[in-house]
Amino acid sequence: MAEETKQTCYEGSSVQSFQFYLQHSGEHEAILKCAHDILPGEFQRIAAGKSSLGVLGVGSGGGEVDAQLLTLLQSTIPNVLITTDIVEGSAALSDNFKALVAKTASLQKVQFVWHVMGSEAYEKQVKANGDKERFDFIHMIQMIYYVENLSNTIKFYQSLLKSNGKLMIIVEAAGGGWDTLWKTYKKELCVHAITEYRSSGEVIACLKSLGLKYEEHVIPNSFDITECFTPSSGTGQRLLNFMTAQDNFHQSFTPEIRAGMLDLLRNKCSTIKDGRVLFNSSLSCILIHA
Ligand SMILES: C[S@@+](CC[C@H](N)C(=O)[O-])C[C@H]1O[C@@H](n2cnc3c(N)ncnc32)[C@H](O)[C@@H]1O
Repeated sequence: MAEETKQTCYEGSSVQSFQFYLQHSGEHEAILKCAHDILPGEFQRIAAGKSSLGVLGVGSGGGEVDAQLLTLLQSTIPNVLITTDIVEGSAALSDNFKALVAKTASLQKVQFVWHVMGSEAYEKQVKANGDKERFDFIHMIQMIYYVENLSNTIKFYQSLLKSNGKLMIIVEAAGGGWDTLWKTYKKELCVHAITEYRSSGEVIACLKSLGLKYEEHVIPNSFDITECFTPSSGTGQRLLNFMTAQDNFHQSFTPEIRAGMLDLLRNKCSTIKDGRVLFNSSLSCILIHA
């Protein structure tokens, strides 16, 4: 029987839904704060004695975080030549990323190689070519949920690291709001692009079983989901669409399931402050050694 290919890369409505989520979640800001705290020291260690540095971004989306990481890398090690490969399966988001590069002055000296394909296709291509290109810094930011096989994927990208290199995985924190929602409603939610929800708990269990060395940094974050509890609120409904990976939260679930999810979101995934419901969206930044 022909193997069915799962569509996990963002196209069409999921691109807008993701962009809407980014505007409301403070997620990129939280990730960048962590990057500024921990990466300059890492970049200096990785670049020690090198005149050029290879970066690989996997599942980079529209490149907003990548652009900032590359700018940080350049300012930390200004005399080192940087090349960047990007593996992103969404044509729409890859186009956004290319447009961002074109208008960002600090990125004009960085050489980009675009692989508009999923991680699995890239892995096959690299293995078919035999001669693996290696990288100093590889990152997978908020994308590990979508890869077919967690352990094989981590093993593959870790094997692409040069000596002293680091693989950075940023993923929702174990026990956080996303983890609680998606594991409680696994039967209803894990049916499309994500068939097995992964938080930092699964990533770390996998690293331990592979015997890989790593360190973990918490990225605290929360965002206001109060509007999700007002059925007439467009913002609330759009947030619920993204959080449950649906085009239409209301049409996708029975009234009982919706009520259960909303109750869980308020009482188990959030804290209440000054009458606002703040969803716990803390992340984990895991740095894996070569
Ligand atoms: C939540 S977004 C994160 C994008 C970006 N890293 C960020 O933090 O803004 C997930 C990204 O992974 C991409 N993606 C999904 N499945 C993928 C796969 N199998 N291989 C490569 N990229 C994938 C999606 O197209 C999307 O751009």
